[in-house]
Amino acid sequence: MAPRGLAPALPAVPALLLLLVFCLAMLAPVAQAARRHDDEAPTSGGGGGGCSSSGTPPPLWVFGDSYADTGNLGDLGRELTHAWYDPYGDTFPGRPTGRFSDGRVLTDFIASAMGVPTPVAYKLRRGAAPGLLARGMNFAVGGAGVLDTGNFQRNISAQIDLFQAQHRTPSNRSGGGCDAGGVAVVVVSGNDYSYAADKDNSTSAAIAYIPTVVRQLREQLRRLRDEAGMRRVVVTNLHPLGCTPLFTRALNYTGCDPIANAGAAQHNAALQSVLAALDPANRTFLLLDLNAPFAAHVGASPAAAVEGRFAEPRRPCCETFGGAGGGYCGQQDDDGKRMYTLCDDPAKHFYWDDVHPTQAAWAAVAEAFRPKIREFLSST
Ligand SMILES: *[C@@H]1O[C@H](CO)[C@@H](O)[C@H](O)[C@H]1NC(C)=O
Ligand SMILES: *[C@@H]1O[C@H](CO)[C@@H](O)[C@H](O)[C@H]1NC(C)=O
Ligand SMILES: *[C@@H]1O[C@H](CO)[C@@H](O)[C@H](O)[C@H]1NC(C)=O
Ligand SMILES: *[C@@H]1O[C@H](CO)[C@@H](O)[C@H](O)[C@H]1NC(C)=O
Ligand SMILES: *[C@@H]1O[C@H](CO)[C@@H](O)[C@H](O)[C@H]1NC(C)=O
Repeated sequence: MAPRGLAPALPAVPALLLLLVFCLAMLAPVAQAARRHDDEAPTSGGGGGGCSSSGTPPPLWVFGDSYADTGNLGDLGRELTHAWYDPYGDTFPGRPTGRFSDGRVLTDFIASAMGVPTPVAYKLRRGAAPGLLARGMNFAVGGAGVLDTGNFQRNISAQIDLFQAQHRTPSNRSGGGCDAGGVAVVVVSGNDYSYAADKDNSTSAAIAYIPTVVRQLREQLRRLRDEAGMRRVVVTNLHPLGCTPLFTRALNYTGCDPIANAGAAQHNAALQSVLAALDPANRTFLLLDLNAPFAAHVGASPAAAVEGRFAEPRRPCCETFGGAGGGYCGQQDDDGKRMYTLCDDPAKHFYWDDVHPTQAAWAAVAEAFRPKIREFLSST
């Protein structure tokens, strides 16, 4: 996500972006090497051994980007992977863990709503307790998109490939292997659109990209049900992109960017149609609405009333000196001096950095979705 261009690039989103784009040449070999290494490793059996008996919650498989990542990006240095450096993780667990927040992220709250532990991040699977590996895995990685985003992170198709490679069980037999019956969560927060907007330096390019992204996402969702054998698939919609600090900074945090928000709404409407066509009875898919709970707190339009829980609904807790497009949370100068300011209490802020919510924000959003997830998963 990258803030680039003045005209608010439509979707801005989570993850590392700009910087990564600038540093592609340098990152590519590293990331590719890391990936190769990963993929050669024996699979950990994440889930295969966990034929759950009745009563045990189903395994949870997570696909997506930085809103859901719990460590998959890996540590490639402060500049490229901020989430592995302070002040990320200050609130929880008190040190950086690759989560793009001061604490817990969406995946943690979804797992909690389901009554299961946070699934192990794919990249960290070797150190995980075998018991935990049977309960699912998180493949989401910061910077990822439905399609490639130029960040050299696994797109969602590739994340699903990874799941399938780990589960060469006859997942085609519906109701077959132990893994059939799992719950998938798909979190798409807009990196595809940031990429499109940056590439052409235009918001209209991002908007024009919506049908392509949603069509590909539809295929990924279909695969999760028809090929990966997921019993339930929870898909998030886009938050009001134009209310992220990336956009609102230019307005001194007084309002949101209406064009970016309209783009998000357009994506959401298209996604809803796709789900209605794939699953008219709402049996397999749940559209998890992030847009409304975000908007309730950050104010989708300047005039919109804000609920008031967050004293600072739009100003990020971790604010860079760099101004629009420059600097990042956690940046230091050559002497190790901070090039950002940190708020006193992240719980008063909805946003942690330019695009990612605080733990307190995710907790507030989770209050809105927890009952929906529970009801959906308990329905037959
Ligand atoms: C991007 O577009 C804006 C206005 O549309 C223009 O002012 C700016 O110079 C452009 N930036 C680049 C890098 O082309
Ligand atoms: C997703 O990533 C895979 C593996 O890198 C690549 O082959 C494929 O073309 C990508 N798909 C899209 C839609 O970008
Ligand atoms: C599963 O289905 C896919 C496509 O429908 C097919 O290509 C693949 O060979 C099947 N795998 C098995 C193990 O039957
Ligand atoms: C931005 O808002 C702050 C208070 O919220 C105010 O002190 C400051 O003067 C404003 N800056 C501009 C450029 O309007
Ligand atoms: C499925 O869910 C959508 C909202 O996401 C709702 O509009 C529709 O009526 C539901 N369909 C059924 C059959 O319950």
